[in-house]
Amino acid sequence: MKSISERDQQVNWHPYTQMQTAGPPLAIVKGDGVWLTAEDGTQYLDAISSWWVNLHGHNHPYLMDAIRKQTQLLDHVIFSGFTHAPAVDLSEALLTILPSSHEKIFYSDNGSTAVEVGLKMAIQYHVNRGANKHTIIALKDGYHGDTFGAMSAGGRGIFSTPFENHLFQVEYIDVPIIGKEDESLRQLSKIIKHHDVAGFIFEPLLQGAAGMIMYSPQILSEMIHLCNENDILTIADEVSTGFGRTGKYFAADYLSHKPDIICMSKGITGGVMALGATSATAQVYNAFLSDDKSKMFLHGHSYTGNPLACVVAKASLDLLQEDDTWTAIKRISTQHHQFVSNVMNHPYVEDARALGVVLAVSVKSGSEESYFNYLRDRLYNFFIHRKILLRPLGNVIYIMPPYCITDEELNMVYTAISDLLDEL
Ligand SMILES: Cc1ncc(COP(=O)(O)O)c(C=O)c1O
Repeated sequence: MKSISERDQQVNWHPYTQMQTAGPPLAIVKGDGVWLTAEDGTQYLDAISSWWVNLHGHNHPYLMDAIRKQTQLLDHVIFSGFTHAPAVDLSEALLTILPSSHEKIFYSDNGSTAVEVGLKMAIQYHVNRGANKHTIIALKDGYHGDTFGAMSAGGRGIFSTPFENHLFQVEYIDVPIIGKEDESLRQLSKIIKHHDVAGFIFEPLLQGAAGMIMYSPQILSEMIHLCNENDILTIADEVSTGFGRTGKYFAADYLSHKPDIICMSKGITGGVMALGATSATAQVYNAFLSDDKSKMFLHGHSYTGNPLACVVAKASLDLLQEDDTWTAIKRISTQHHQFVSNVMNHPYVEDARALGVVLAVSVKSGSEESYFNYLRDRLYNFFIHRKILLRPLGNVIYIMPPYCITDEELNMVYTAISDLLDEL
């Protein structure tokens, strides 16, 4: 009998995978906490929360139970003209942890669509008010997803090159990393002076896919303030930073000036089901209220507000709000900082950094830091061989574990990284 992995190769086309050269996929049959069990029984430690989605560990009984109960009641129903308790409960719960200026939640299906919604809200907001403001500003090297709007707002590079002719124009500013803050702010004000800017989109404090690049809340707050003064909506893409990853509920919690629109997905359901959500302030929402139907927000998806996804998201928020979860987040964060100081001076470490539960180590490679850095496959294979799922971004190794990871499990990952560095 053929294995799942063999059958897969006959029928499936996998994301971000060169199907000609990639090895056979690992078929996973079971998840439990940070552990994934493959069909041959081998267990792998999921140190990247399965593409940053899982918060509380795989197959958490409380989350599985929430879905099971909901399956007795309602699978799905259209969300235009209809509603249901799971969506209302989730929105109420989200609004208690979002910045207090946020008043409404718009649901979609994933991170890219949450961003599409954010961008379209910002653009239509100005159209509805009769303002001639269309330009979008974004940070260089940002990643906002793979749909066309999200791709347009993302940094231009290897992910977007084939589609370049089909993307809308965006004005970019440098990421305000340490030492570049003034230059970045200067670029922002210059663009504001010379364009009719509708919105500024950014991954707050942490640019994930670009290689876990970190920058300070102070400079982002200043940038948001400048946008506020110029009637420009600010869109925080918290798809990866939301739900505790940076050490607070949202990266926006570190900011003295809050964004107008926040895009959420990934951790929103604890990593169990696909769901996107975009929150907006009353000021944004009110610009869509009119007797004129054409001013309604012109967007919607078939599975908007799926009840199963909403109940599991609400259950995940219940867990996230427990003291034990925050103790775990602080513990992981402290350990990460300790590991950063341990490896910082290693001859093969270019840079090491940590924010919340995210740890990143840039390995010296002698060539440009990029997703296609030649070291990537060597690093990935080294860790898989050690039964640890890490998916380096080029030469950048990072950990973003579920919060249930124990000290012992974390040490397995740190030890593997140290061994790798010693072996280079
Ligand atoms: C910051 C950010 N925005 C958007 C996305 C896109 O999310 P999705 O893959 O769910 O479409 C990602 C995915 O990695 C992301 O990191």
